[in-house]
Amino acid sequence: MKKIIITGGAGFIGSHVVRRFVKSHPEYQIINLDKLTYAGNLANLKDIENEPNYKFVKGDIVDAQFIDELFGAEQPDAVIHLAAESHVDRSIANPLEFVMTNVVGTVNLLNAARYHWKGRYDETRFYHVSTDEVYGTLGEDGMFTEETPYDPHSPYSASKASSDHMVRAYQDTYGMNAVISNCSNNYGSYHFPEKLIPLSIHNIKQNKPIPIYGKGENVRDWLWVEDHARAIDVIFHNAKSGDTYNIGGHNEWQNIELIKLLCEIMDKKLGREAGTSAQLITYVTDRAGHDLRYAIDATKLKNELGWTPSITFEEGLEKTVEWYLANEEWLNDVTSGHYQQYYDEQYTNR
Ligand code: NAD
Ligand code: DAU
Repeated sequence: MKKIIITGGAGFIGSHVVRRFVKSHPEYQIINLDKLTYAGNLANLKDIENEPNYKFVKGDIVDAQFIDELFGAEQPDAVIHLAAESHVDRSIANPLEFVMTNVVGTVNLLNAARYHWKGRYDETRFYHVSTDEVYGTLGEDGMFTEETPYDPHSPYSASKASSDHMVRAYQDTYGMNAVISNCSNNYGSYHFPEKLIPLSIHNIKQNKPIPIYGKGENVRDWLWVEDHARAIDVIFHNAKSGDTYNIGGHNEWQNIELIKLLCEIMDKKLGREAGTSAQLITYVTDRAGHDLRYAIDATKLKNELGWTPSITFEEGLEKTVEWYLANEEWLNDVTSGHYQQYYDEQYTNR
């Protein structure tokens, strides 16, 4: 049986990738390696935690010795690497943490893979899950393709660009089997409520202001998280070593237009009079170095591997709102910090 380590599996996208692989690929043993930072939450995986082909390991990818020992003990055949510090605003406040996790952590995994997979690079695979933010920002026109030069602006995107370069360097230098995908903004269930969509849902529910950076004119290209997980599955199984794929929804929204749509949906779902939630929109100081526009050209993925998004944004956003309203306990645990206390008790002395 093939063994796959999925890093960051307790986070937003990682939990969807773990769930997909555990359910759709019973032929694999899935090891979810996660440090359980503020963004990691095992409640995201409650429905599959007892599956026979799933195992959770708590650990830090910055700890090189631990990673080396884990590879030695588990002898994985592949790594799907999602563990990262992922929030741009936090990277502006604390860049070093992003360098440690996103760059040093990735190099630790690459080193362990290089050593433990020596002589069998053709049977193994290192898959790095990356972001479209490595390409920098677009003006009014154009789209990011796989050929767009890297031009990251935030400490977050610079750290992800560095880790992409290291993955390519290990492929070029040592001949390791490696693939990278660069995806646009994800949304859906289990999204941590520091990011625009879940934060806004939470605030609307609580009748709190919805903070819009600057004039709300920045554009993001939104993709339903389960479509991202499916794209990762397709790329993992079909890409050639050294391949890169862009993943995106062809679904651009100005932040303010997106929030107006979300307010309409929330008014309906909460039985509020039309226009009530939009009154909470509050313009606040812009993010430093705020990239104006992201848009992904996912033609290569469509033409070569047949992947396209499965649902429209309107459908996906409605599903997402319904999920947050139906999972009040999850949201309350995350916003109160209760879920972290549980891990402190469970994993002390390990
Ligand atoms: P997230 O912040 O929700 O989850 C990150 C996970 O990584 C958490 O479970 C956390 O506990 C874990 N982690 C953090 N530091 C760790 C460490 N040192 N050791 C082990 N585990 C650690 O992130 P996300 O939004 O799910 O993003 C996952 C990946 O996808 C990231 O690499 C991110 O750059 C990339 N990505 C995200 C998006 C998006 O829209 N969210 C889009 C494109 C790419
Ligand atoms: O493009 C992919 C990236 O998308 C991923 O690599 C990142 O990990 C992920 O966090 C996301 O980054 P963004 O910075 O685009 O996502 P965020 O939800 O933080 O912000 C989306 C847009 O909304 C952005 O233009 C900033 C704006 N914003 C955000 C927040 C949190 C607001 O206007 N108000 C807010 O309160």
